[in-house]
Amino acid sequence: MTRPVLLVQSGGEAALPEWQRHFAAAGAEVEVRWWDDPAVAPASVRYALVWDPPHGRLAGYPNLRVIFGSGAGVDFIASDPALPRHLPLVRMATAGAAQRMGEFVAWAVLSLLRGARRIGLAQGEGRWDYFDTERTAPETTIGIMGLGHMGGAAARMLVGLGFQVIGWSRTRKDLPGVRSHVGEAERDRFLAASDILVCLLPATPETRGLLAAPLIARLPDGAGLINVGRGSQQRIGDILAALDAGKLSGAVLDVFEAEPLPAGHPAWAHPKLIVTPHVASLPPRSERAAHVAALIAAHERGEALPNTYDHDRGY
Ligand code: NDP
Ligand code: OXD
Repeated sequence: MTRPVLLVQSGGEAALPEWQRHFAAAGAEVEVRWWDDPAVAPASVRYALVWDPPHGRLAGYPNLRVIFGSGAGVDFIASDPALPRHLPLVRMATAGAAQRMGEFVAWAVLSLLRGARRIGLAQGEGRWDYFDTERTAPETTIGIMGLGHMGGAAARMLVGLGFQVIGWSRTRKDLPGVRSHVGEAERDRFLAASDILVCLLPATPETRGLLAAPLIARLPDGAGLINVGRGSQQRIGDILAALDAGKLSGAVLDVFEAEPLPAGHPAWAHPKLIVTPHVASLPPRSERAAHVAALIAAHERGEALPNTYDHDRGY
């Protein structure tokens, strides 16, 4: 009996043998094929695992049942005007992804607290640049915008490190040690208390361009900024200007409007900015394949799939 096809568009064609190995190890009852393989009959495709498929393509598979995002954010998939919206679009919400994000945010927060960029620059120049660290974790409030799968994990880790942690989301949260703020009405109070602001919001029309001058003006003077959400949420010119003016004391940006960040972009060399190449939280292919294989098996048993994209909410 021929097995249904899982089309993969993640990591480039060179990654296909690795995906095939991991899906086989996970016991997935599918044939794993590359996205652009001309030998794949469209009618044989039942599943797709994709990151940023060209718009219109997913509509061309008449027997497609589930679309799996290869990352936690599926905005590059959901933005397809021809997307078959009746199909479940599943976000990559693995436990390992949340753990990795928590670790990255903890690293970024501690890097800002302890002047990692300054230390790195001085080391590069062979310069002994002694300086005092002004505050400790319990004296520092971290404001996390977005307290979902990723933001919740980051909050738990930061509480564990002794930080004061507050969060902002659409609905009220009850996380141990985290003060919850909700919606527009509580946003300014949340921002005014955030010594370091972490963005872990999804890309939606509401969050587009949020990290810009008007929001930065609401932060305490000398605040830190970390964006691990999406590049579309930030206005990089406003962030660089705020760093130059001292309104922001430092920033860590993992996401950019154009990725890769173009060579020669002023963000690369800014002395108060750490640039990372969208590496905050990507679980290994083995973990993602095992997760998707388990979800395919669940779907074949007729079970509902978790972490599906909600087209009305936009995330
Ligand atoms: P979730 O959907 O689990 O959480 C999203 C959170 O954002 C929720 O708490 C939600 O509130 C809140 N939110 C959404 N819209 C608004 C709004 N308008 N105002 C206030 N709060 C809002 O997503 P994840 O935690 O899994 O991922 C978040 C984002 O992180 C992804 O969409 C992706 O862009 C980014 N990401 C980046 C990675 C990287 O490597 N840099 C890796 C993984 C993810 P509520 O809970 O009330 O619904
Ligand atoms: C993302 C991811 O959504 O890498 O950015 O998972």
